[in-house]
Amino acid sequence: MGYNSYLCGKNQTTMKRNIQFLLGLMLALSSHLSVAQEIHDWENPAVLGINKLPYHATLQLPSKEKECKEIVSLDGQWKFRWSRNPEERIVDFYREDYDVGQWGKITVPGNWQTQGYGTPIYININYPFVKDRPRVTSEPPKDWTAYENRNPVGQYVTFVEVTKEMLNQKNLILHFGGVHSAMYLWINGQKVGYSQNSMSPAEFDVTKYLREGKNKLAVEVYRWSDGSYLEDQDMWRLSGIFRPVQLWVRPLVHICDYQVTAVPNKNYSQAEVKTVISICNTSKKKAIIRPVMIIDEIAADMAEVQINAGDTINHIFHYTLEKPLLWSAEKPNLYPFCVELEDDKGNTIEHFDNHFGVKKVEIVGEVFKINGKNVKLRGVNRHDHHPKTGRYVDDATYEEDIRLMKQANINFLRTSHYPDREYLYELCDRWGIYVMDEANHETHGYGYANQVMGEDLTFQKAHVDRAESLVKRDFNHPCVTLWSLGNEGGVGPNIEAMYNTVRELDNTRPPFYDSDRRYSAIWDDSYLYPDDLKKNAQAVTDKPFMMREYAHAMGNSCGNLQEYWDVIYADSSICGAAIWDWVDQGLYPMDNGKLKMDNYPFLYGGDFGDKPNDGPFCINGLIAPDRKPHPQYYEVQYVYQPLQFERKADGTIRIINRDYFTDPSEYEITYDTLRYDGEVVLNVAARLKEDKPWAKKGFIVAREQFVLTPYAFPMKQRDGSFVTSAGDVTKEPSLCYTIDGNKLTSWIVDGKEMLEAPLEPYFWKPENDNQSAAHFAERVASWKEVKDVKVTYTIINDHTIRVDMDYQPTTTDRPVMPKFGMRMRLPKDFTQIKYYGRGPWENYPDRKRSAFLGIYEMPLSEYETEYIHPQDNGNRCDIRWFEIGSLRIEGAQPLCIRAWDYGEEDLEGVRHPNDINRGRFVNLNIDLNIHGVGGADTWGKRTLPQYTIDGNQPHHYSFTLSYK
Ligand code: GAL
Ligand code: MG
Repeated sequence: MGYNSYLCGKNQTTMKRNIQFLLGLMLALSSHLSVAQEIHDWENPAVLGINKLPYHATLQLPSKEKECKEIVSLDGQWKFRWSRNPEERIVDFYREDYDVGQWGKITVPGNWQTQGYGTPIYININYPFVKDRPRVTSEPPKDWTAYENRNPVGQYVTFVEVTKEMLNQKNLILHFGGVHSAMYLWINGQKVGYSQNSMSPAEFDVTKYLREGKNKLAVEVYRWSDGSYLEDQDMWRLSGIFRPVQLWVRPLVHICDYQVTAVPNKNYSQAEVKTVISICNTSKKKAIIRPVMIIDEIAADMAEVQINAGDTINHIFHYTLEKPLLWSAEKPNLYPFCVELEDDKGNTIEHFDNHFGVKKVEIVGEVFKINGKNVKLRGVNRHDHHPKTGRYVDDATYEEDIRLMKQANINFLRTSHYPDREYLYELCDRWGIYVMDEANHETHGYGYANQVMGEDLTFQKAHVDRAESLVKRDFNHPCVTLWSLGNEGGVGPNIEAMYNTVRELDNTRPPFYDSDRRYSAIWDDSYLYPDDLKKNAQAVTDKPFMMREYAHAMGNSCGNLQEYWDVIYADSSICGAAIWDWVDQGLYPMDNGKLKMDNYPFLYGGDFGDKPNDGPFCINGLIAPDRKPHPQYYEVQYVYQPLQFERKADGTIRIINRDYFTDPSEYEITYDTLRYDGEVVLNVAARLKEDKPWAKKGFIVAREQFVLTPYAFPMKQRDGSFVTSAGDVTKEPSLCYTIDGNKLTSWIVDGKEMLEAPLEPYFWKPENDNQSAAHFAERVASWKEVKDVKVTYTIINDHTIRVDMDYQPTTTDRPVMPKFGMRMRLPKDFTQIKYYGRGPWENYPDRKRSAFLGIYEMPLSEYETEYIHPQDNGNRCDIRWFEIGSLRIEGAQPLCIRAWDYGEEDLEGVRHPNDINRGRFVNLNIDLNIHGVGGADTWGKRTLPQYTIDGNQPHHYSFTLSYK
């Protein structure tokens, strides 16, 4: 175990760290001495790291890393060996004479479970191992994945070529961006160190371990550690070296950290830019160095400084910016700068590029303000997830995510529930998203707001470590607006310690925490109904209010979004809300360690044989794992739009601006008057006047539709001779209807049967996830049987039949109706659809604002929505007419229509879309109305009453069917 000269220094924080380091050293030694008791570092919360360097800010902008000569990427194919448990690992694999030639390979960065080693486990609240703090290897039930695979170990080896130049007067630092959950490092057979805290970088000074030529780098990773007790987030539990690995070849005297704060003064006329540059001297002699900061091409005149061997000094640089352009999500103005070091001969020996933004975050009473304005956070939560690479998300996918967020008018991102990879923050800086940056801390397995982990002082250091690593790494990102202490964790002194740490490190951005509200600048109550949001927010009077999570977007969901925002916009103390969540955490299936990506369903909990698991509860996104937006994405885009439009009685359009730093005149407003079958609508749109990094000129950021002349729904009258409600009706030999009570059982046209199953009253619909969680089926099961209904069939002419359905309840105790309408089955080749109604995407009564009236054409496969966890889908509302194959339906009032190439019974209870028995017929549901999808949560809350159908009221509707 090497002593680390890097840690010596005069400055106080370094001194503190020295003491911590010595403590760590002593603990590590004592654990070494007590091998007999087998206290592993990875089951000992007193050991968070051995020989780890202090956390610091991201030194080089991620997009410019390639330009930084100091960084050597070690990513690529490494040698790999996986063991089910620590006993089966190869204890001395790190030795130089141990041959890994026969080992398999793995891609770094990446998770081992997504590369064919071990089992991904998806679990929400509970721990995937037996809760026996701090141990993670106690015996679980035999059917748990963790029984056989008690604590899998991944052993990694790679060989690094080191040149003479890299060793000449250089300090070499090995950087791991993220390793889950605990790791040891050896170089050329010598132990270098240990680390946990999986979502933050771990760095080691490896100068003395490396030599010219080929070097053996060995890393041993444990799936679970005592750190896992703080990592009980609702997500796939994946392991390995999942973020980039870099070797930094640094001058002996180098910048080890820098922090920029740029806060505007009271009247925003100036900003005080304060930069603290930490420089350390890792050499054996005193150094003279000149730090340089260049802002806007103006080089700051910094004096030369002397640093004694082994010291770290903090150099503070003040700069006053006149008339600063402020940073906000709307106007992400950035000031590029670089920091450099010059040696005593004036040569630049280090250079880093970065940017800062000038912004003020304030809490004034119960109002949250950014740059003095009561900005509303239109938010979303996001897990770092990729269907192929698990917890490693590549740059292009980050760009796609932030582009889709910006296009959906999302201005707030919570990095639930841990810090993401650095590039994401750079994108949010550049493209404009307020970020709640969250510490890697959740202890939900002990209960929401538990005292256990909040009060267990043996875990206090680990809690603080997660707060410190969060703030220190991301300090310089202007996008960071709030620091979150974690999610669903404990209450008590450990939280207080995290809170104090965050406040000490940064007083420009407030701390947030959901579980112990004493340590949060904002009060959070999540997943409320809109009415309760209003009430609860009014009851909290000493701080702003937010829903850090709401509108649980699992499956077919996100109803009543507008109702939430009507409340939020009306109450200045509510600063916003963030949808749960951004992307479905589905994984591609694997075949012999390789991912299969063609025509296979996305997998969720249980699909890998993982136990225990929480099934599809990880499929809660606005977009699919492959980033294809779900229908609810568009509703978010509409409800979150910065401009809202109102049409006044005199025909003028009023624009309500929900933004603060953008004037409506910055958009091009277009008006389109469209005529469809006598109905006249006006579509208003606000379009970008110029290209943005996330959308092209002309892109519609806000829109509305007004009906100027409403549709005249036709009421086709009988023409006399062919009225009936029972028996066979034949007009000519080529045409025959058979009516049996309420059902149309046969309709023969030119000798061909149109009906694969009768047209019949039908009030049932399969559940969506929200409804199944709210026990909808049990509550409304009585509607599987049709009651108190009378259907009248009227033959209008050769090819047209009118259907009237009347419901007159005979009792007053009926539950809400799943839907009021009929169904029929048509020939399987009726697959082309054209309709006039709301679209193009799926919409339901409580989620239809974004779907404008229009004439849309699409194949049946696009009319259906393929949810990863199959459920009710595909409805369109306010349909005037609908054509499918040779059939045309016209409503005497607006209709709701669903069309599937399978039956209700084929959908229910099925795990994946490819398990649905499809293609035997087309199932058409023609309804007056359908129960809304629901919008609050997927654990019991119901659809708002205004979007349900009263079973105790009479209902009536009519439509005609014609054969084309
Ligand atoms: C929240 C939690 C999230 C997620 C969600 C359900 O309470 O913070 O992590 O579990 O519930 O999908
Ligand atoms: Mg949780």
